[in-house]
Amino acid sequence: MKNKLDIAVVPVAGLGTRMLPATKSIPKEMLPIVDRPVIQYVVDEIYHAGFKKIIFITHSSKNAIGEHFNEDSKIKQDLAKRINKSQLKDIKNISNKKIDLVYINQEEALGLGHAIKCAEKEVEKNPFAVVLPDRVADGSATDLKRSNLAKLRRHFMNTRNNCLLLAKIPKNEVSKFGIIKPKKSFQNGFVEIEDIVEKPKFNKAPSDLAAVGRYIFTPDIFEYIPPKPLNKSKEIELTHAIQLMIRDGHKLNGLNSDTKYFDCGDKLGYFESFISFALKDKSLGKDYKRIVKIFSK
Ligand code: UTP
Repeated sequence: MKNKLDIAVVPVAGLGTRMLPATKSIPKEMLPIVDRPVIQYVVDEIYHAGFKKIIFITHSSKNAIGEHFNEDSKIKQDLAKRINKSQLKDIKNISNKKIDLVYINQEEALGLGHAIKCAEKEVEKNPFAVVLPDRVADGSATDLKRSNLAKLRRHFMNTRNNCLLLAKIPKNEVSKFGIIKPKKSFQNGFVEIEDIVEKPKFNKAPSDLAAVGRYIFTPDIFEYIPPKPLNKSKEIELTHAIQLMIRDGHKLNGLNSDTKYFDCGDKLGYFESFISFALKDKSLGKDYKRIVKIFSK
């Protein structure tokens, strides 16, 4: 295994069925939270956590994502004539970051595990992060250098252990997540993980701690991604690969977080994220609040 942890894999090739019909022609990652698309919050988080390269696992129907990050001087010139300095700075900042963006096609949405496998050649033998773009951290716009992703990155660099982000979730929601079985108690916010189960039933869940979309893996994970769905799953699940990897003796640590992560791939989660970011908006927050109050009477 190589030493550097510079790569983040961001899968954006899912079908986004929970957000239809909005996602019929627009990728869910391009839906706005206030004035910027979901994917931009996630790219900012990755950049500020210290990564140097993002591999998007995408689909030919999702060109809008590449176009958003593409530096297009013609558009900039046209825009520059019509917008103010701060808007222009915002637009330039989208593509000015010192981070490489690479796009790899997943021809068919066969599942998250399959999407990650598509990155294997590009990742080579490096450790890498997986960042699910539909999970957006509350407040991620303000405190990015100390984000949970940055903490996971540091933890990996110190220990070389695979690690992932955990959040405590209500018991009645365990069947929507990969749920972990902790081995020892938490130290420095991290716990050793003994097992992980994909979407367990309410009464069979080993805990109420769920994986919430931020992972760091050694390249060994690729060996454990099954070639077809396991058990009763319809898709090739990343959780199954993680489970096989732990059961084969690889270490996995979990960082417990009380940061709220919105599920922006779901109508309620998306709405919640929009309201939360809008109310905290520096310039228009007060006005948004006034409007929300009027409509909640
Ligand atoms: P989700 O299951 O949340 O996304 O996958 P989805 O499949 O797009 O959503 P629904 O359930 O149909 O509404 C988590 C992440 O993995 C990506 C998705 O784009 C999302 O960011 N993904 C999922 C892929 O890239 N490829 C896949 O085959 C499946």
